Amino acid sequence: MKLIEIPLATLPAGAGQAREWCAALEAGAILFFPQTPVPLAANDLQFLLGQQQTDSSLHKNIAYKPLADKLSGVDTKTADAAAVARLQAIMRSYSKSVVEFLKGFLEPYHGGWQLDYASFRPQEEQGRDLPLRRRNDLLHTDAFPTRPTHGARILRFFNNIHPERTRDWVVGDPFREIVGQFAPRQIAPQVDGAFTRLAKTLGSGIGLGAAVPSLKRTPYDDFMMRFHNFLKENAEFQKDCAKYSFNFPAGSSWMVYTDTVPHAVLTGQYALEQTLLVQHEALVTPETSPLNVLEGLAGARLV
Ligand code: SIN
Ligand code: FE
Repeated sequence: MKLIEIPLATLPAGAGQAREWCAALEAGAILFFPQTPVPLAANDLQFLLGQQQTDSSLHKNIAYKPLADKLSGVDTKTADAAAVARLQAIMRSYSKSVVEFLKGFLEPYHGGWQLDYASFRPQEEQGRDLPLRRRNDLLHTDAFPTRPTHGARILRFFNNIHPERTRDWVVGDPFREIVGQFAPRQIAPQVDGAFTRLAKTLGSGIGLGAAVPSLKRTPYDDFMMRFHNFLKENAEFQKDCAKYSFNFPAGSSWMVYTDTVPHAVLTGQYALEQTLLVQHEALVTPETSPLNVLEGLAGARLV
């Protein structure tokens, strides 16, 4: 498991470097910026941290949809309208700054990604009382129940905006190294039903229900959703898999393909995050993508 440290002083990097970073991310590395390249203005930071003292309805996980310029997760009936507007302005600006930075930093992807949600995570992560499948302190790969990606990759950029504390993660070995452990080798490479059988076998014996039906989802999306649930529900995997700890300091940033690097957040409070969906065509090593790995296992097209 690789963490690549990128000091701010080394940016912007020379031509060719961006491609290497894309390849490293696709191979499962975390790119770590000890000092964030997208700092917040001091007064905006103070505002976000101020959400701690109040018991306001801003005090939960809040999503920002950049393409619609909409906030969700805020109860606008009880939250102060000025505070909501301020939060929206901060999220809009954060989202823009991350995109501006990544246009150059991950140049080969530019034009090949779709901007997904950003989020503000003001809650203490340790001891959160959430249903098992929504817990983030269990190792998992990301898949969105209501936003199928059709083979696009989930790339996330994080800021630890806590003034002092680290945000503590545990990560595991990437998808392509662990999926074979669970996907039976004897699956017949036939187009119809092959993948359904793979998904069913993966789910059998560990209490997984039927795949959640969705017209918009491809077999790929179904599998990735099942795999997310499977990892969280698999006590043996949680206990025995290879684990690597990373404590991201206050003021740092990091980015990682969370659809293939199993991750869990154990402690920490106050983070910002921006998600990008990187189209399969934009990948620099498409042969290592989870879509290709799964199509190889299933012997069928999955999108
Ligand atoms: C997650 O994607 O599981 C959450 C990570 C975090 O909030 O640090
Ligand atoms: Fe996650």
